[in-house]
Amino acid sequence: MARYGLYEIAKRLNDVGSINVLVPSYHCDAIVKPFEKAGVKVKFYKIDKNCNTDFVDLAKKIDMDTKAVVMIHYFGFPNEIEKYVSICKKKNVLLIEDCVQSMFSSYKGKRVGLFGDVSFVSWRKFLPLEEGASFRHNGFLMNNQSRLDIKNWLKAVKNTVENVFSKDVSIKPLSSGKVDIDRSASELVPAFFNKKPTGLTERIFRKYDIRSVVIKRRNNYAYLMEALKNSKIVLPFQKLIEGVCPSAFPLIVKEDNVDVKLRAKGISACQWRYLSPDLSRKEFKDAYFLMEHLVFLPVHEGLNMHELNHIIEEVKKLVR
Ligand SMILES: Cc1ncc(COP(=O)(O)O)c(C=O)c1O
Repeated sequence: MARYGLYEIAKRLNDVGSINVLVPSYHCDAIVKPFEKAGVKVKFYKIDKNCNTDFVDLAKKIDMDTKAVVMIHYFGFPNEIEKYVSICKKKNVLLIEDCVQSMFSSYKGKRVGLFGDVSFVSWRKFLPLEEGASFRHNGFLMNNQSRLDIKNWLKAVKNTVENVFSKDVSIKPLSSGKVDIDRSASELVPAFFNKKPTGLTERIFRKYDIRSVVIKRRNNYAYLMEALKNSKIVLPFQKLIEGVCPSAFPLIVKEDNVDVKLRAKGISACQWRYLSPDLSRKEFKDAYFLMEHLVFLPVHEGLNMHELNHIIEEVKKLVR
């Protein structure tokens, strides 16, 4: 998983033992924990209600002890890369690109993850795998970590061998349907520190037909967008420009617990349910708004027409 690699990076970053990193206020808890565990102070910069970065806030928060800024390419959509690169250069801090949701996306013809100083992906977010992550660096970090290398990542991307696992995994009654706000879910388990993925994982990774994954996900995204765009739902990412490979279909709804209700209908919807306790509601109200109202719908390549229509129907029933 990406969090274990991030922990390795965080340890190497913290060479003086008193640094901080800036993380976007709307985040997956799994990117905060590795820094905390490595003794790195995590500070937050603002993300607004539409998942846009507040660059004024970011610039203001970079201080003498700031070593790196983390940016997230949300849901497969490249974030404002030029602005991040420019601010980090000017302030002389590292840029860490979180490409977990954008493993197969590119920006202006160049893969995301190739713009910052460090970047990482998590294989399980796009492939039928439980483990594995790749990291890339521009010579700043992890020079001896050949196992966490971009080579594997690029090899898989080039590979267009037949799709080995395109099974129908989306529509299943899911267990309890309760809201998971237990932070222990993103806890790091020492047994997984510095572990290589298994051979089976690496084989599946190499054999997966990435091109068809990208095409299918884009088609599924476009289909959901067409069906949901005139309803009362806010769609924060409507420009499916060339190069985007979506990880999920985000929508903003005013109703509560829509993810839980959809899961009860067998749809694997989710929300980021946990923000760091260091985020005050007053300062970061937009991040809390997103946490409470932004729902991720599945768009993965295993979905068929019947399932997509089922998702649309159930969303429309819940959101009025
Ligand atoms: C944007 C983002 N970053 C990091 C992570 C953590 O990845 P992993 O679960 O592989 O540790 C996730 C997981 O959902 C994520 O969505």
